[in-house]
Amino acid sequence: MSILIKNIKELIQVEENPRLKISGKEMANLNTLKDAWLLISGGRIIDFGPSDTIPTPEHYELKIKNYEKINNPLVRLSACPPEIIDATDRLVFPSFCDSHTHLVYAGSREIEYADKIRGLSYEEIAKRGGGILNTAKGLHEASEEELVGQALVRLNEIVMFGTGAVEIKSGYGLSVEDELKMLRVIRRLKELSPLAIVATFLGAHAVPAAYKGRQEEFVDMVINEMIPQVAAEGLADYIDAFCDRGFFTPEETDRILLAGMKYGLRAKIHANELDYSGGIQVGVKYNALSVDHLEYTGDAEIKCLLGSETMPTVLPGAAFFLGLTHAPVRKMIDAGLPVAMASDFNPGSSPSGNMQFILSLACINYHMLPEEAIHAVTINSAYAMGLSDELGSIARGKKANLFITKPIPGYEFMPYAYGSNKVETVILNGEVVRIS
Ligand code: NIG
Ligand code: FE
Repeated sequence: MSILIKNIKELIQVEENPRLKISGKEMANLNTLKDAWLLISGGRIIDFGPSDTIPTPEHYELKIKNYEKINNPLVRLSACPPEIIDATDRLVFPSFCDSHTHLVYAGSREIEYADKIRGLSYEEIAKRGGGILNTAKGLHEASEEELVGQALVRLNEIVMFGTGAVEIKSGYGLSVEDELKMLRVIRRLKELSPLAIVATFLGAHAVPAAYKGRQEEFVDMVINEMIPQVAAEGLADYIDAFCDRGFFTPEETDRILLAGMKYGLRAKIHANELDYSGGIQVGVKYNALSVDHLEYTGDAEIKCLLGSETMPTVLPGAAFFLGLTHAPVRKMIDAGLPVAMASDFNPGSSPSGNMQFILSLACINYHMLPEEAIHAVTINSAYAMGLSDELGSIARGKKANLFITKPIPGYEFMPYAYGSNKVETVILNGEVVRIS
């Protein structure tokens, strides 16, 4: 099928020469095209331009044919006339890419939320058997179908908030069997959902009660039992570990990442949320695709990240919900680093996957310009899931995952008007998504 979107008030993040990530000062430059059209066919962005060049029916047939010739002579795109969408007063954005979530889980943890309000810290709750261990218990008791059902509700919700690609971690299993169960649920979601989904194996998320006082043995089990089985079933795209004070040490993380790499699993890790944990350094050492959280990022960590291929990823929802100190995003960008942002959607530290709210937090709490924040939640977060050659901007040949806003004055309105859903029409894989 083909779609021609016409009268677009402003097409956001258009690229003639697509980049894989955007760093430092460049993050403040957002390419847009005012008064534009966009042609989609066969799930791909075919072309775009200013309204006075809008293609006639003969023209778009030609454009589609040219696209087939240049990009893939074997692909036959739709020959039918496109569906026309009139986007008068509306903006078109590339879909948000949410590169860090834990959205497969059973139940919720609002009781701990109340404990937190009474003054207990995240670490104190975890020590009492709450936190990750609490969700692990719920996951153990839930069937695969129940988990798929609950996760689909969350996926449908984030689609309508504008997300077009999402990373989902395991990590609430904490046993071989339950980790495999979680990853199989994610595999099923890949089949059922129109979203682009990548799976990350997070065996070392917390030490389960059965291994209390025997952390090293648990790490051995992750390395010798979990990783080989996860790899044998081809269930994960990436590997993660929670490298932080009170969880896993840089030495343990080093062993886990090395073991994962032997099976072709690139690292994407939790680091420096609770302390200067050494997580950033160990991630960069193994050429991690991303290091995530980063509340405790100093000069040494910034120096280590500069010149690396690792995407520093900040999770504003978790810092907001837990009342954490904020990652020094301004300092990182001013030093020349790229920054990505993701929701961290999970029941303990960020029970929301709304990337529009993340945009607002980026501007309000991290002093990012709207332009920088938009890059952080699209192209840079696409990079942080290994998808920025396909997603994260409006470029010819990229996957047609995008959204049309409600009538809004301009792109700054997206972070400004926090709390309301500004997305009106969602297009994934070149098709309008309708969720009842
Ligand atoms: O990214 N920091 C570690 N893991 C999650 C929290 C998971 C949970 O509390 O259930 C996070 O914030
Ligand atoms: Fe997380």
